[in-house]
Amino acid sequence: MMKNIILQGIWQVKCLVENEKLTNKLLRINRNISIRIKIMVMIVGIVIILGIWLSMQTLDIIQSTLSDQLVKQGVSLGQYISARSTDLIFINDNFTLHQLIQEIVSNNNNVRYAFILDSEGNLLTSSFGMLLPKGLDKINKVEYNLAYHVQTLNTEKGVVYDIAVPIFEGSAGTVRLGMSESEIQKLLFNTTQSLLATTILVSVFGILIAYFFTLLLTNPLTQLVEAAKAVGKGDFNKRVKLGWAHGELVQLAQVFNNMVENLKQVDQLRTNLLNKIITAQEEERSRIARELHDHTGQSLTSIMIGLKMLESSKNMEEMKGKVAELRKFTNTTLEEIKDLSLTLRPGVLDDLGLEAALQSYSSECLTKLGIDVDFHSVGMEGVKLSQEVNLTIYRVVQEALTNVAKYSNASEASIIIKRNENMLIVIVEDNGIGFNVEEKLNSSIQNKKLGLPGMQERVNLIGGKLTIESEPGMGTTIYIHLNMEGLVQDEKNKNLSS
Ligand SMILES: Nc1ncnc2c1ncn2[C@@H]1O[C@H](COP(=O)(O)OP(=O)(O)OP(=O)(O)O)[C@@H](O)[C@H]1O
Ligand SMILES: [Mg+2]
Repeated sequence: MMKNIILQGIWQVKCLVENEKLTNKLLRINRNISIRIKIMVMIVGIVIILGIWLSMQTLDIIQSTLSDQLVKQGVSLGQYISARSTDLIFINDNFTLHQLIQEIVSNNNNVRYAFILDSEGNLLTSSFGMLLPKGLDKINKVEYNLAYHVQTLNTEKGVVYDIAVPIFEGSAGTVRLGMSESEIQKLLFNTTQSLLATTILVSVFGILIAYFFTLLLTNPLTQLVEAAKAVGKGDFNKRVKLGWAHGELVQLAQVFNNMVENLKQVDQLRTNLLNKIITAQEEERSRIARELHDHTGQSLTSIMIGLKMLESSKNMEEMKGKVAELRKFTNTTLEEIKDLSLTLRPGVLDDLGLEAALQSYSSECLTKLGIDVDFHSVGMEGVKLSQEVNLTIYRVVQEALTNVAKYSNASEASIIIKRNENMLIVIVEDNGIGFNVEEKLNSSIQNKKLGLPGMQERVNLIGGKLTIESEPGMGTTIYIHLNMEGLVQDEKNKNLSS
């Protein structure tokens, strides 16, 4: 008993697994078949099923109508023979009787045989000659009060309706006619052939129409697939042509094309930014090399010469003078090296943090860039951001102020850094000539002016958002918004996060 239950369980699990495999297989096949094929198979399937169903219905109706007609024809022929043969039987004119039978059989294709029996059931005349097929005379019988009786016979050559019609109410005998369905079958065969041909024709026509419509319907989809593949491989020039698309597909194609256009612009922007970074790096290196060679190198050479001269000093007085000169040179060299290292990486950023670095930079602006910059900081106590965030904000502020110095004609500018709950906000503002932001951003790639998009990109990379507000004649304000959750390491933020 237990064994049976276990075996049944195993069998059911096996069935489930096999069913799942089958379902997966079907799903995989379904996924690999294109929509075009599916629609075409559907239409052809419907046409074939409808064709077969209609043909069967038609053939059925034709068959039953013609069979009824055949029986009616048989009955009226039987009644005709019955009427004509009454006198002939009474006067025993078998010859004319035979002629009558022969005439009916040869003039009607549907009449397979005909014969007349007398009231005793003896054969008077027949289309078979004087010998009837065995048992045929007994197969059908008509009651004397009835007008006729039909008996269906299944012969080797198809269905035969045997019709018995009484002569002179049966007292003179019975006429028997065999009405064959073979002519009907021929007709049915021909009708079936033409219905089949029509179904095939309609199917071919259906396939052509389905092909055309699915082409209309799926062409934009096929194009979309091809374009998506191309975009996936990094080709942003591929577009979906809208000529074939309809309804929702037009929208889909438009959305796709816009998306690719945006991707193309972003890709171009990135390429340009990368180029700019590489060029800027190279320029920076040659500047440093120049600086080291022209200034630091010169200064060190002067120090070396000074030291040599120091060796050959004749007295203490001369030596002291030369040492003072050497100290001056060394001091200048030290300043140069400091300046150089500051431009490479502001050390104050690592040592004292963003707030201090920005403050120090703002105070250098007047001498370095020629603009007076105010610095304000609100709620930044204890905020310690990562080096990456510090450097990004520092460089963005530097670029913003360089632009202020280059283009704004401003008399004043300010840097504000503040913390609002979890949000770090940095504002660089000037009261200069301002500019049309959208215009400048849209033409930035074309004009290779990558300062503003570069600022946006850098802020995006650290998870922040850069907004530029400016209008001609209204000054410029640049905002950096950065959610500090998870970025700040101070106690206040820990409390906020929790
Ligand atoms: N503070 C500002 N006041 C007025 N115009 C500005 C200001 N900032 C930017 N612009 C305008 O926006 C343009 C684009 O600035 P952006 O920094 O992108 O390029 P750039 O400084 O000309 O070149 P790059 O920064 O790539 O060396 C500038 O050419 C200038 O016309
Ligand atoms: Mg710039």
